[in-house]
Amino acid sequence: MTDFTFATAASIRFGAGAAAELPHQSRRLGERPFLITGRNTHRHAEILRDVSDVGSFALAGEPTFDDARAAVRAARDARADHIIGLGGGAVLDLAKVVAALTAVDTDPMDHAEVIGGGQPLPHDTLPFIALPTTSGTGSEVTANAVLASPEHRVKVSLRGPSMLATVAIVDPALTVSCPPLVTAQSGMDALTQCLEPLTSRFATPMVDALATAGLRAAGRGLARAVAEGDDMEARTDMAFCSLMGGLSLANAKLGAVHGLAGVLGGTTGAAHGAICAALLRTVTGVNIRAMAEREPDNPALGKYAIAAEVLTGQKAADPGHTAYALDAWLGALEAELRLPGLAALGLADDDHDAVLDAAQRASSMKGNPITLTRDELAEILRASA
Ligand SMILES: NC(=O)c1ccc[n+]([C@@H]2O[C@H](COP(=O)([O-])OP(=O)(O)OC[C@H]3O[C@@H](n4cnc5c(N)ncnc54)[C@H](O)[C@@H]3O)[C@@H](O)[C@H]2O)c1
Repeated sequence: MTDFTFATAASIRFGAGAAAELPHQSRRLGERPFLITGRNTHRHAEILRDVSDVGSFALAGEPTFDDARAAVRAARDARADHIIGLGGGAVLDLAKVVAALTAVDTDPMDHAEVIGGGQPLPHDTLPFIALPTTSGTGSEVTANAVLASPEHRVKVSLRGPSMLATVAIVDPALTVSCPPLVTAQSGMDALTQCLEPLTSRFATPMVDALATAGLRAAGRGLARAVAEGDDMEARTDMAFCSLMGGLSLANAKLGAVHGLAGVLGGTTGAAHGAICAALLRTVTGVNIRAMAEREPDNPALGKYAIAAEVLTGQKAADPGHTAYALDAWLGALEAELRLPGLAALGLADDDHDAVLDAAQRASSMKGNPITLTRDELAEILRASA
């Protein structure tokens, strides 16, 4: 068995109703909580009723470097001693940056990958409680935060072990208010974040177990959660899938879907989950074909076969069958969820070359099970349009 290291939040609490523990957990960490939420602060007001915050920052959309600077400044001015993030992945990512940088005097760009200084994050961070309200990113247990840089037209990560939450509270009941589109988009992200680490070059036996369990839950719950938003079994399956995806990606990297998605998010401004949804089927097909042709002994071929079996209930006899089974399953899901392709998300033909240049340098691309050629990546963009 391969040796491995595994790192995650110091404590994870999972289950319907778990969010009621927030006031207690907050008091354990300090007296001056600073809140990061989305724009709709009424949605989860009940959970925050007994939290006496010293200030708050409401994020609109996905976070930019400027949002991070403004939120860090507000938390510093409020002399916060711990941070609470309550929202989707966008809010949690911003909250992580605030927790990481409030106690120090550096700019977020100093720590950014690819376009920034890439300096290690400080150890001296504020404690941080993460409560996801979508089932998608698993950001409550990942060691990175994604920020958009509009001038570079790209989204990049700040990354390091000090970004791991002190407490992650995953309460599926918080996701019941997500409308079908948000459920579908974030759910496709969660599914992708199980499949990519499972097949990643950096997969470990522990990640295999978690990612496979997450895929099984998505197979049961994704379409149901979209169709019936108050189906708590389906919401619980998707919250679990999202958590498994976060645990997996933080310990095994991702792949070409996310390598392209970071760049496409910066180029088009479209929602991250929608971009993952548009790419997942074609990346899966191209990866399996490339490995069958050039690296037939690549262990990821076996992992894709496991994924196909978990999702379809049928064993695949060879890479051709695996590719066919996954393509059919993902195609049926796409049709059911009615998610748009890349062109409808705002990708113009003229942008393809610049996207390919940037995506080949992306950090997630390094996790892809095989190095894809530029022609293969171009084929993925065309076929995902
Ligand atoms: N750090 C990581 O590991 C990681 C991984 C993947 C993606 N991300 C980032 O996470 C972000 C995407 O996160 P997301 O998919 O959760 O979407 P999101 O946070 O952008 O939220 C999507 C929309 O849903 C709304 N929403 C959130 N919770 C809701 C609820 N309970 N009821 C109704 N509406 C609700 C939000 O206000 C927003 O309008 C992107 O910025 C992406 O880059 C981070």
